[in-house]
Amino acid sequence: MREYTPATITDAVIEQMSTTPDARLKQIMESAVRHLHAFAREVNLTPAEWLTGIEFMTKVGHMCTPARQEFILLSDTLGLSALVNIMHDKTKLEAATGASLLGPFFRENAPHFEAGAQIAKDTNGTDVALYGRITNVDGAPLANAQLTVWQTAADGRYDIQKDGQTMDCRGVFHADDSGAYLIRTVRPLGYYIPLDGPVGGMVTAQRRHGMRPAHIHFLISAPGYRELVTALYIAGDAHLEDDVVFGASGDLVAEIRDDDPNSPIRGLPSVHFDFSLSRQMEADRIGGRVGADPGRVSPGSARATAVGDAAE
Ligand code: BEZ
Ligand code: FE
Repeated sequence: MREYTPATITDAVIEQMSTTPDARLKQIMESAVRHLHAFAREVNLTPAEWLTGIEFMTKVGHMCTPARQEFILLSDTLGLSALVNIMHDKTKLEAATGASLLGPFFRENAPHFEAGAQIAKDTNGTDVALYGRITNVDGAPLANAQLTVWQTAADGRYDIQKDGQTMDCRGVFHADDSGAYLIRTVRPLGYYIPLDGPVGGMVTAQRRHGMRPAHIHFLISAPGYRELVTALYIAGDAHLEDDVVFGASGDLVAEIRDDDPNSPIRGLPSVHFDFSLSRQMEADRIGGRVGADPGRVSPGSARATAVGDAAE
């Protein structure tokens, strides 16, 4: 009869899983077991500590609703979402605009607007024009490219954090024949990620501030090009260097200028940013979006084969 020791149990588990027919699932699970076991050995994990971890993950699961995905928030605050995004972004065919986190506040079916329309219902904040061009990496316009934008309202909250019904400070626009886009909005504010759940408890216990720097999200697509999930981070924000979800990066910092002579809406503070898209590869077509509307994250909705599905 076999006897397991801390040194032999890892190989025993991997041996038992070696019958997994799906090669990618086999690779991922073997590596997960190796790293999980190494972690437990490294910190000399006690049964009580592991139970605390299980209780924590149970609370994370119970916090999830169609409007809130606490597991994504956990992944975000552990830097795993950013790591997966950065690795994925490096696989694109061409050196186009960099990606950033989709975040938990993206919604499908945002309202469509004409160029230059105001996306904020409450314009008590500072009005800002966002403008620029959407091109390929050689600067050729991507006429009619679709741009979805979403951000916090003037009070620093996303629409979904309020009544959950009204769509505000989000919209879908299209570039014109020269690839130009123009959006009117209000100045976004930095905000705390949702801290009232188990992930907030973890962040607070770690004495982290829990804030994201002010930013505006974009999802940009054009036929034949890799979808770009990105965000612009407002220059001067105090948390550009220590974003709690590690999304802000230098290439995506944009300035709100009061004196840009090229701004299409004269007299309004403006952000000028040109986006470029990489040509699409076959893998992009089947790869799926980096992130998801929380309402769509349900068992069986992921494109990768889930462990539970494989057993059915
Ligand atoms: C956001 O940018 O909206 C966001 C991203 C990750 C976690 C929380 C919020
Ligand atoms: Fe955000």
